[in-house]
Amino acid sequence: KRKGFIFDLDGVIVDTAKYHFLAWKNLAHSMGFDFTETQNEQLKGVSRVDSLNKILAWGNTTVSEDKFQALMTLKNDEYLGYIDKMNDSEILIDVPKVLDFLKQNNQGIALGSASKNARRILEKVKLISKFDAIVDGNDVSKAKPDPEVFLNAASAITCDPKDCVVFEDSVAGVQAANRANMISIGIGSRAVLHEADYVFNDFSEISEGFIKELINQ
Ligand code: BG6
Ligand code: MG
Repeated sequence: KRKGFIFDLDGVIVDTAKYHFLAWKNLAHSMGFDFTETQNEQLKGVSRVDSLNKILAWGNTTVSEDKFQALMTLKNDEYLGYIDKMNDSEILIDVPKVLDFLKQNNQGIALGSASKNARRILEKVKLISKFDAIVDGNDVSKAKPDPEVFLNAASAITCDPKDCVVFEDSVAGVQAANRANMISIGIGSRAVLHEADYVFNDFSEISEGFIKELINQ
């Protein structure tokens, strides 16, 4: 049977949270307030606009619409500086192995990410050719936990949502997968991702037998 396997990018395929953290922290400092790793955790899966809104609220700061746009550009320019230094050594453990196994088994493979930089990152780590479809922050109007990104990804690989499996590291992303009526697989801590159908620390814990079961379910 051909099912759809939809991967989130940040935190599932690559660990970019550390680069988002550096760029947001420098932005916060330039405005005279701090930004902590704990706060950064709360931005996982959150769109760029929503992230800046949260950061400004944490810093008790409001800005004009023009300034808001300028801050987003400033942050993204710094972030892209880190991204452009990435290479395939930054791919998280066993991601290529799982992608190749799915391909060998003729499964649909899509990306479903909130990031507007998704294509650039996949090119840097040389995984872009592994995906049959890429749906990212440029293609959606509603951010996770809205299911739009995953529903669009399913339709791009012509799979019924109920035949799709989503790999996600964020709470908002797991909720989006559940709302799309897809099987949700959390990558990370069970305590955080308890709403997911299954949780694994990383792809090294996901066996080929388990993937075969998902395909045949
Ligand atoms: C998500 C990240 O994948 O993409 C968030 O988890 C990030 O931290 C969001 O804010 C948007 O990313 P970008 O690259 O468009 O700023
Ligand atoms: Mg993520």
